[in-house]
Amino acid sequence: MARILVTGGTGYIGSHTVVELMEQGYDVTIVDNLSNSSVDVLDGIAAIVNRKPKFANIDCSNFVDLDNVFRQFPDIVGVIHFAASKAVNESVEKPLLYYRNNLGSLCTLLEVMKLHNVSNLVFSSSCTVYGQPDEAHLPVDETAPIQKALSPYGNTKQINEEIINDEAHADKNLKATILRYFNPIGAHPSALIGELPNGVPQNLLPYITQTAAGIRPILKVFGNDYNTPDGSCIRDYIYVVDLAKAHVKAIDHMLHAKDRGQVEVFNLGTGTGLSVLTLIKEFEAATGIKLPYTIVGRREGDIEQVWAEPRKANEVLGWKADTPIQDVLASAWKWEKHIRNIK
Ligand code: NAD
Ligand code: WQD
Repeated sequence: MARILVTGGTGYIGSHTVVELMEQGYDVTIVDNLSNSSVDVLDGIAAIVNRKPKFANIDCSNFVDLDNVFRQFPDIVGVIHFAASKAVNESVEKPLLYYRNNLGSLCTLLEVMKLHNVSNLVFSSSCTVYGQPDEAHLPVDETAPIQKALSPYGNTKQINEEIINDEAHADKNLKATILRYFNPIGAHPSALIGELPNGVPQNLLPYITQTAAGIRPILKVFGNDYNTPDGSCIRDYIYVVDLAKAHVKAIDHMLHAKDRGQVEVFNLGTGTGLSVLTLIKEFEAATGIKLPYTIVGRREGDIEQVWAEPRKANEVLGWKADTPIQDVLASAWKWEKHIRNIK
């Protein structure tokens, strides 16, 4: 079977994707510098799929190290590039770190892929490129305008997409699939892998599960005066396992579809927007836990409402995110209990 190189494969979305790839029979080599993940994740993956992926602890922006990996695995037929720094707040404080890491690693990867005649790339982008779509563009499809990024992190995703498009223009052998994720949440149903946020979580669901576990005293809901039915912000929360499966479909499509374009873009979301207050209610219903929360002021830079039009991915990739939200939230809580040793 074909081998896929997964950069950032010990990270949150990467590890779930490695599981799905291996379950579909792909061989996998992970490269990760463990800047935001642990080598123990490999054991979790192995416990789920009964074999270990190959692993190299290297930085993707190191040409020599990455070149060595491609030499060692001449059967690589495609790459999924997750490796990036992803904390929005940190990117505002340390923009150069974000530009260097997120742009440098992609440039190095494209150079090394070309050297080894590997032409299939799947890239992790984000709905952040759409900013706040106007009403006519909700739900947001792939043709909606890209808006000026609100953070250096968001800007790196936009520039990454431009780098891919420019390189594909120059090198007609390169094929790329750009996946724009909405809000990935949850954990593998086994609770053997999941999200491991660093320090105080910035994202909603890890904050909810840590509050439920008693690690945080109370969840702060950032604003209830938005122009939405209950006043809180709306997002498209997508189960990380559904998201991981989309990557396998994207790889299958790149390797086998006859009519594919050179660069294709897909929104990966459920197609349904949920408000913060709705997500809290769903979490309570899924777990039986009463979640302490309080309404506070708006968080600077927050988008009011955005959710995906995923029809293109549904139709072209034959993929749909259809795990019920309460199952997704239950998986996140099971994972939190697992890592905190809560019965
Ligand atoms: P993550 O931090 O859990 O995983 C990223 C992995 O990449 C980590 O294991 C980290 O150690 C590794 N890494 C970072 N820089 C590296 C480098 N230079 N060389 C080698 N390894 C490196 O993040 P995630 O949530 O799994 O996100 C994966 C990708 O998806 C990222 O590109 C992120 O920007 C994108 N994305 C994430 C979200 C989200 O909400 N989680 C949403 C949209 C897009
Ligand atoms: C979701 C909602 C908050 C925490 C971020 C990145 C974006 C993308 C996805 C990578 C918002 C509210 C949150 C809390 C709250 N990542 N909230 N209390 O804002 O959609 O986007 O992750 O590409 O780039 O910016 O996700 O999980 O931070 O917030 O009320 O303690 O939850 O205001 O409405 P967001 P989030």
